[in-house]
Amino acid sequence: MKILIVNGPNLNLLGKREPGIYGARGFEDYYNELKKRYPEVEFDYFQSNVEGELINKLHEVGFSWDGIVLNAGAYTHTSVALQDAIRGINTPVIEVHISNVHKREEFRHHSMISCACQGVICGFGLDSYRLAVEAFLAQK
Ligand code: DQA
Repeated sequence: MKILIVNGPNLNLLGKREPGIYGARGFEDYYNELKKRYPEVEFDYFQSNVEGELINKLHEVGFSWDGIVLNAGAYTHTSVALQDAIRGINTPVIEVHISNVHKREEFRHHSMISCACQGVICGFGLDSYRLAVEAFLAQK
């Protein structure tokens, strides 16, 4: 099983960025733990602050990989182009968020991409990514 984790804008700052909301742990550290926990899964990780680069990555893997775990960051709430990209590929995408966006500002309550994703997991901290991996494994 090949699973790609994609993080969007500002998620390169995890561990430093608003730790009260996103926690004090950097993503690389968490990602290494995830890889150890699921040795049977072939993971790859991609982060970009640039919308078009996220789209290019979805196009690149979206016809051959088994699953994509996508935290689109703030593009979640704005990007028609990401919604179209998810609709345009075959690989199922699970939308994840570290924080519970529904407990936060109103502009975070709407996602432009949920309607194109297989499902949504939010509010479990970094564990949201693992729960998405579990969801893919359960469908194997
Ligand atoms: C986020 C929630 C978004 O609203 C925000 O813009 C982010 C992170 C999350 O993981 O909780 O950058 O996707």
